Amino acid sequence: MDPIKNPFSPGAGAPPPELVGRDPVLEQARILLGRVKQKRPEKSMLLTGLRGVGKTVLLNEIERLAEEQGYLTVPIEAHEGKSLAAMITPPLRSLLYELDRLAGAKEKVKRAFAVFRGFLGAIKFKVDEVSIGLDVAPEKGVADSGDLEADLPNLFVVVGETAEDRKKPIVILIDEIQYFSQKELGALIMAMHKVQQRQLPIVLLGAGLPILPGLAGESKSYAERLFSFPDVGALSKEDAEKAMRDPALKAGVKFEKAALAEVFRLTKGYPYFVQEWGYQAWNLAASSPITEQVVREATSRVISRLDVNFFRVRFDRLTPSEKKFLRAIAELGPEPQRTGDIADKLGVKITSLGPIRSKLIKKGMIYSPAHGELAFTVPLFDEFMKRVIPQFPG
Ligand SMILES: Nc1ncnc2c1ncn2[C@@H]1O[C@H](COP(=O)(O)OP(=O)(O)O)[C@@H](O)[C@H]1O
Ligand SMILES: [Mg+2]
Repeated sequence: MDPIKNPFSPGAGAPPPELVGRDPVLEQARILLGRVKQKRPEKSMLLTGLRGVGKTVLLNEIERLAEEQGYLTVPIEAHEGKSLAAMITPPLRSLLYELDRLAGAKEKVKRAFAVFRGFLGAIKFKVDEVSIGLDVAPEKGVADSGDLEADLPNLFVVVGETAEDRKKPIVILIDEIQYFSQKELGALIMAMHKVQQRQLPIVLLGAGLPILPGLAGESKSYAERLFSFPDVGALSKEDAEKAMRDPALKAGVKFEKAALAEVFRLTKGYPYFVQEWGYQAWNLAASSPITEQVVREATSRVISRLDVNFFRVRFDRLTPSEKKFLRAIAELGPEPQRTGDIADKLGVKITSLGPIRSKLIKKGMIYSPAHGELAFTVPLFDEFMKRVIPQFPG
């Protein structure tokens, strides 16, 4: 069928033709935004889930909802090896200019610029990526100690006060939040704690792999009190089938019932894979309805596309010993595995695994869903590992 009319959209952050199965999370976000706007307390949200489940797409949708409700947005996408300060300063600067343009008295926003300038001056020594011009004198002693855990909360308070003064709520949207260090996450959590205590109109909406198991002590208990952690997962059978059926129908094309069931069986409802199978099956089918046979025939194309676009890019950044470590996990199975069992599979002591474990976590290949456990961040990665390294231990 005509590939130009293909409604499916496989790809990181690519908006799906229909965002199915996410109404509860969207409703929760709507309530959160509405309440904070009215100065009522509400927990901020961190969407957690594996790669390819649709966190980015949800975050973008919530950003749209927030804008509709009159929020100003601070969008941030965290990266491996980039500091929080470096990531947050450019959008914060734009935000302050935006607040400045709104009508009203100038004192609060002037002060925010001065405190922000102080913050920039202090981090400049540490973060040379940041070089933002700002033609104001810094205010001393508020957010310029150079210690992020002290400075970020104070900066957020001043920004929040300005927002309150301008009657403009703010939402900070952070994607891939797991890339921030524990110290940075701690600073962010403390900042939101301070903001909430003062009932300032700032909402934090994050998305990423689960961060809680990696946090310790105070940060962890604050995080549990300040945030809810909606779990974004695979779609139910009904939703997965709807995600295929409805967009096709809108384009005048039907899926056979058995074809839809087959896609669910193959994808286990993972949104990225659903889009990929829908996309390939559409292109392969000669006419409507799309049959189970076509879905099956699409599989090899899908697998090779997933290997290239989804799995391989990650695999290629690994050292041989990291590959071996992941292959051992794959050997144990797709579910989360205990570190002790992985060590046994590799025939090494559990204590020797620390460095490789943390490197793989930093690279976003694995995460710790619970203490002492490790799991792949990408669904079906175990099968991919077995495809590229058929024999274990080799
Ligand atoms: N609710 C949904 N229904 C159908 N497809 C979805 C849904 N959410 C996301 N997708 C699709 O899944 C893919 C991955 O989405 P993305 O937001 O990048 O995931 P993540 O950020 O969790 O890695 C995209 O192709 C997107 O179109
Ligand atoms: Mg994403």
